[in-house]
Amino acid sequence: MKKYELTRLPDFRPESVHLREPDPPASQLTVSFRSVFAVLVIFLIACVLFGIGGYFFGKLEGENALFESADAKRAEALMPTPMDAIEPSGEELRLPRHLVPIVYRLDMRVFLPYKDSVDFGRRNFTFDAVLQIEFQCVRQTNRVVLNAKQLNIEPSSVALTDASGKNMTLTFVRHESQLEMVEFWFASSMITGQRYTLSMEYDGPIAGDTLAGLYRSKYTENNSVKWLAVTQMQPTDARRMLPCFDEPDMKAQFELTIHHPTGTKAISNAIETIDAEPENEDWVTTKFEPSPKMSSYLLAVAVSEFGYKETITSRGVRMRVWARPSRIDHTDYALSVGPQLLAYYEDYFGIKYPLKKQGENQLCWHRTCPRRTDRFCASLPQYYARPLS
Ligand SMILES: *[C@@H]1O[C@H](CO)[C@@H](O)[C@H](O)[C@H]1NC(C)=O
Ligand SMILES: *[C@@H]1O[C@H](CO)[C@@H](O)[C@H](O)[C@H]1NC(C)=O
Ligand SMILES: *[C@@H]1O[C@H](CO)[C@@H](O)[C@H](O)[C@H]1NC(C)=O
Repeated sequence: MKKYELTRLPDFRPESVHLREPDPPASQLTVSFRSVFAVLVIFLIACVLFGIGGYFFGKLEGENALFESADAKRAEALMPTPMDAIEPSGEELRLPRHLVPIVYRLDMRVFLPYKDSVDFGRRNFTFDAVLQIEFQCVRQTNRVVLNAKQLNIEPSSVALTDASGKNMTLTFVRHESQLEMVEFWFASSMITGQRYTLSMEYDGPIAGDTLAGLYRSKYTENNSVKWLAVTQMQPTDARRMLPCFDEPDMKAQFELTIHHPTGTKAISNAIETIDAEPENEDWVTTKFEPSPKMSSYLLAVAVSEFGYKETITSRGVRMRVWARPSRIDHTDYALSVGPQLLAYYEDYFGIKYPLKKQGENQLCWHRTCPRRTDRFCASLPQYYARPLS
């Protein structure tokens, strides 16, 4: 890594400052010639500097091709192309407010070939899920509109049941990919004030081309590549992992069950009720308590071979700091300051931390330190930092 030295600025001495009469407007031509010359020199220097910078940064970026190419793709996606159809308006991108979510029950199987000897064939880097969304109807409607992006929903698995368990007939499913929505139309209307449950099965990718939704990340240990799956839902990418009401005011509880390869651990917002219980030789199951009622962008999941060190804060919150096995001893500092920071924020905001546990993942979130996946990085609480910010 290149080192930069700080150079002291010359001391500021007020006595050396004199107000000066403005220069006489003598030769207008000389002045403009000088400025043109100065601009030219600055321009040339800038060209040289950027050239050199490009050379060095280009080299660095090569080390993190996964991240950089994903960033570039994201930037590209944000760029309007003239061939695009008319962009949807802000109004069109909003969900109707006929239904209010209560709880999402998500049961997912993560096909993560986290090390060389694990191979799921064509299912490598995908996930399967069974989802139940319970919601309340606040205005009569015969359709359920959810956000969803790049998910394959199995139409024959879709069912809407009322509180008495009666199925309503699905008439059709419409994917509005430009709006990142999926609409389920039913033969009869839902009634105001009643609760309903929509269930479905679907699958999707553990993204490799973007750092959004559930995506993959890798590191090298003992000369072999290890993969992990992590989420980045903010601002609007929860829809890449589950069809949901992906707008921040439409808060609900999330109750997750994750089936993950033997040898990995699964982490989410809430504390585990079942932790990596063997299902068979290849799979283990981790089940979590329902989360507090929260926005979809706060949902977090990580599946990795990471280990952890833990402590219990004076107020009884279990705090774990996770890191790849070879870096587990780099977690001590985070583990010692973490409980103090949590207590400080609880006092400062006068709000008690709402969960039984606090997980800090020593991943490098791409925005903070894209070039250092293998080193110690500042870690961010998954649940707490975001509502605070
Ligand atoms: C699945 O991933 C594993 C581990 O990276 C790899 O060895 C295997 O070749 C992959 N299988 C396919 C079909 O791509
Ligand atoms: C409702 O539909 C689902 C999915 O098609 C099905 O599994 C379930 O048995 C149905 N329930 C009733 C009560 O018909
Ligand atoms: C790396 O390999 C050595 C020797 O096989 C083993 O003892 C060690 O646990 C491995 N480290 C990790 C992090 O897997």
